[in-house]
Amino acid sequence: MIDQLLQLESEARAAFSAASTEMALEQVRVAFLGRNGKLRELQEGMKSVPKEDKPAVGREFNRVKKALEALLEERQAALAAPETGAQLDVTMPGRAPRVGKQHPLSATLEEIVGIFLGLGFTVAEGPEVENYYYGFEALNYPEYHPAMDEQMTFYVTERTLLRSQTSTVQIRAMEQTQPPVRIIVPGRCYRRDTVDATHCHTFHQLEGLLVDEDITFADLKGTLEVFAQELFGQECHARFRPDFFPFTEPSAELALSCVFCHGQGCKVCSGSGYLEIGGCGMVDPNVLEGVGYDSEKYTGWAFGFGVERLAMLRHGIDDIRLFYSGDMRFLEQF
Ligand code: DAH
Repeated sequence: MIDQLLQLESEARAAFSAASTEMALEQVRVAFLGRNGKLRELQEGMKSVPKEDKPAVGREFNRVKKALEALLEERQAALAAPETGAQLDVTMPGRAPRVGKQHPLSATLEEIVGIFLGLGFTVAEGPEVENYYYGFEALNYPEYHPAMDEQMTFYVTERTLLRSQTSTVQIRAMEQTQPPVRIIVPGRCYRRDTVDATHCHTFHQLEGLLVDEDITFADLKGTLEVFAQELFGQECHARFRPDFFPFTEPSAELALSCVFCHGQGCKVCSGSGYLEIGGCGMVDPNVLEGVGYDSEKYTGWAFGFGVERLAMLRHGIDDIRLFYSGDMRFLEQF
């Protein structure tokens, strides 16, 4: 009896290993382990084994049965692996890859940059970690001037700081070229502002600078008017009101007629009909002389505004913090 069991075991092992498809394996299983299979047949024969041999034969029977069951499982797992090709259904729809999209701030910035490239400006860049000279001194800030308050930023050392405005790049750009200068400077800025719906410690500005002979305040107004209309449509226009910046004289606050109520007055513009977006002015002769330009020969203007502010107006977004939240439910809307 034990010989028969061993004989069956080796036959079964050979058959299991030879089965090369799931279907063939199933046939082998039925033949050996099935209800009417060979193992069952042997089990029937055990009835005639003498009583004293029964425990030994029974033990061997169980060992062979377990061994074959384990082998079956192993072969089933091996054949179920996809490399057999039989299980690969090429007509199944694929898993769509997750496609990213442009962040609304980048998209707004790209559009703004596009408008100024069309007007003949080129893009300049400068460091976000700046030194005090470019950050303030060269921009004509007197040391204890109240205008410094707005520019409270993060200091790395006493004279190294994170730039609080892109105006710092004006100086770096002018140091490197002679007029005419016609640049825009998009970039990240930092301020020690308390974070709320309209302020963040990290934000973006876009600066413009034009220096040449015979450049006037009228050119500045006309350029910003064209910009407003390109970005928000023909009804939009730019408004100037007197302001102060150490690096421009005269200086103006730059506002656009409200893009929601077209100047009628609404909640977004607090009834004023205008939305303040930045500052501008004629480059102060001190700044021009500071970089070695002849301020009798050359004049220029500059402006700067917040990119977040414009993106919020463009899309009707009421909280600046959403831009940096990483919340896909927000980002996927644009
Ligand atoms: N940098 C100024 C700010 O952050 C805005 C600004 C004002 C930029 C006048 C200019 C300028 O270039 O000429 O408030």
